[in-house]
Amino acid sequence: MYEAKILGTGMYAPKKVMTNFDLEKIVETSDQWIYERTGIRERHICSTEGGEWPTDMALYATRDALKAANLQPNDIDFIIFASVTPDVKLPNSACILQVKLGITNNCTCLDISVACSGFVYGVNMANSFIKTGLAKNVLVVGSEMLSREVNWKDRNSCILFGDGCGVAIVGRAEAGSESRILSTILNSDGTGGEYFDQPVGGAVTPITPTHIEEGSHFMQMKGKEMFKVATRTLAENGRKVLEMAGVSKEEIDWVVPHQANIRIIETTANLLGMGMDKMIVNIDKYGNTSAATVPIAFHEAITDGRIKRGDLVLFDAFGAGLTAGATLLRY
Ligand SMILES: CC(C)(COP(=O)(O)OP(=O)(O)OC[C@H]1O[C@@H](n2cnc3c(N)ncnc32)[C@H](O)[C@@H]1OP(=O)(O)O)[C@@H](O)C(=O)NCCC(=O)NCCS
Repeated sequence: MYEAKILGTGMYAPKKVMTNFDLEKIVETSDQWIYERTGIRERHICSTEGGEWPTDMALYATRDALKAANLQPNDIDFIIFASVTPDVKLPNSACILQVKLGITNNCTCLDISVACSGFVYGVNMANSFIKTGLAKNVLVVGSEMLSREVNWKDRNSCILFGDGCGVAIVGRAEAGSESRILSTILNSDGTGGEYFDQPVGGAVTPITPTHIEEGSHFMQMKGKEMFKVATRTLAENGRKVLEMAGVSKEEIDWVVPHQANIRIIETTANLLGMGMDKMIVNIDKYGNTSAATVPIAFHEAITDGRIKRGDLVLFDAFGAGLTAGATLLRY
């Protein structure tokens, strides 16, 4: 039995920035409404000319993570690619990324579709593979081009989302290392699937010109319902992983929550009995980038020196499905 730890991280944000003022020109909304209700000021949007597809962003982010981990591409023996906006339906994004990275060791390549919980699902799965010796260095990717799947005519949802990518390499911890993943939880409740779905475009209902005319092939969300379940679930899972590891909330240095809405983060902090000073927040700059929010926020906080080696960190995510997951780790 081995222990797993985070060896290195990376991120990529598309060059184009779309502010709330830009959105005012597209739908009936205002910077003030968006900022007050969500905490978002701007988001990044991928180029549709190429060079910023989800696997491209993952390539750029992984180069930095490999450097930070002091590893070569062929040291990766498992790629877990979390996304609900893959480059193409087939082949999977992990296989495309394997080629872009120049990995020639025939490593395992898996895509997972768990929406905003995707990165946390990936980290927790990586932990299990490393613990059992099935993998040594797992690249976990959260990369999304949500701008392709949101309805830019629906002010209820288009204001919330953005594009971006964050990655982490989860690897074997040296014997006796205090840096390691301490406890994990993953759960789902499919009965809430209709709160956030995209029913058109799959095997059951292929997209027709009528869907395109109506805009019914885009993602659809019941914001209020999502809000309620999100706060309850994030708080429950946060509490559970602390309890599993015998860690008190006072000992936690940082919480890296899914960035869906600043009010969700504030309510979760409140329910967990923690101050906002422990919450890593960057929703103002990126909006909700689904599977990419947690690794981008984590990477930024490491890069700017807030999160240091030895800190106790809690990942806490929630998404469509409904899916949820949390990770407690000593970085
Ligand atoms: C979507 C969300 C921001 C809406 O905030 P809210 O406070 O619940 O707002 P409401 O839905 O009550 O809407 C209030 C009013 O603002 C209007 N409104 C909605 N979007 C608007 C926008 N972009 N600009 C201006 N007005 C808007 C509504 O039409 C409504 O008007 P009405 O009262 O005349 O009908 C919020 O529910 C949310 O963040 N939910 C969670 C979403 C989420 O996290 N999803 C992903 C989870 S992984």
